[in-house]
Amino acid sequence: MKHVVMGIESSCDETACALVSDTHEILSSVVWSQYDEHRRFGGVVPEIAARAHLEKCDILIQEALDKAGKTWTDLSAVAVAGGPGLIGGVLVGVMTAKAIALSHHLPFIAVNHLEGHALTARLTSPVSFPYLLLLTSGGHCQILAVEGVGKYHKLGATIDDSAGEAFDKVAKMLDIGYPGGPNLEKRAKMGNPKRFSFPIPMKGRVGCDFSFSGLKTAVRTTIEKLTQLSEQDKNDIAAAFQEAVVAQMKDRLQHAVQVFKESYPLAKDLVVAGGVAANGSVRSMLESLAKEQGFVFSAPPIGLCTDNGVMIAWAGMERFLAGHRDCLDFKARPRWPLEQL
Ligand code: KG4
Ligand code: ZN
Repeated sequence: MKHVVMGIESSCDETACALVSDTHEILSSVVWSQYDEHRRFGGVVPEIAARAHLEKCDILIQEALDKAGKTWTDLSAVAVAGGPGLIGGVLVGVMTAKAIALSHHLPFIAVNHLEGHALTARLTSPVSFPYLLLLTSGGHCQILAVEGVGKYHKLGATIDDSAGEAFDKVAKMLDIGYPGGPNLEKRAKMGNPKRFSFPIPMKGRVGCDFSFSGLKTAVRTTIEKLTQLSEQDKNDIAAAFQEAVVAQMKDRLQHAVQVFKESYPLAKDLVVAGGVAANGSVRSMLESLAKEQGFVFSAPPIGLCTDNGVMIAWAGMERFLAGHRDCLDFKARPRWPLEQL
């Protein structure tokens, strides 16, 4: 082990810190989810999130160092999610990382949160550039050709909501609690996906774009017709909704694979990343699609799909090893498209 990088994440509702090595070891990873802070509002409240990050950030950083058995002098660099995200939270992480860099004379690396998701599979699996990536989280749903660190080519993206947002909104409509995605998946396991038939937006369309708002509306109409929802109704709607999401992803990726193969005939990796990548049905669809297309499928372990510090530390490590450094005048960014890297 030659290098150790610390990663700090605070762009949404998880405060997290981790240490990783250049030998692909996770030396420590601490994540504090703010579910309890936001539960009664049914979603993330940016102002509450920022204050909660501020309260927990220092404690988690010390915990990450202690758990890894490392001190500041063992670090090669400090990385932080510099955006995109809820600006109050991003600012907390960025200012903390800058203070660490300055006081401990460490290189400072601002990581794009989406790049953190995009590169995570390379920490845990032998994935080489270029690869085809489905990036599906709470804020984003995109298909990308990943050519290298900082080199992304977008093949398609959602024209309205992200998949994670659709999971969260449908969970809210069904009143099955927050966080929506994982709860909806649990309900779907107990439901009959064939009882309701929801539309599969974008199916068969040229290109690789997504759309989820029509599906969401169809769910709302179904709920309104039922007037009172039994637990079984909820489970059946969840199952049918999840099936429609997975069907759309499959259709879009089948297109994307063809486009990708034309540009990169020798590439063979299909990767999924982001919070929705924790979904079992999404993962198994991708696994069989990869098999059909002669691709190798890789996904981060479930715990590394939703926001965490490891993804920031690892993307920081990749950037550090590639010689990237950021200045201390880096500004936290609420928006930061991957193609701008
Ligand atoms: O990547 P992430 O933690 O945060 C963002 O960068 O947005 O993704 C969070 C999203 C949420 O919308 C959440 O509901 C969804 O990922 N999610 C899931 C599952 N676990 C998390 N969606 C479906 N099934 C899951 N098991
Ligand atoms: Zn994320």
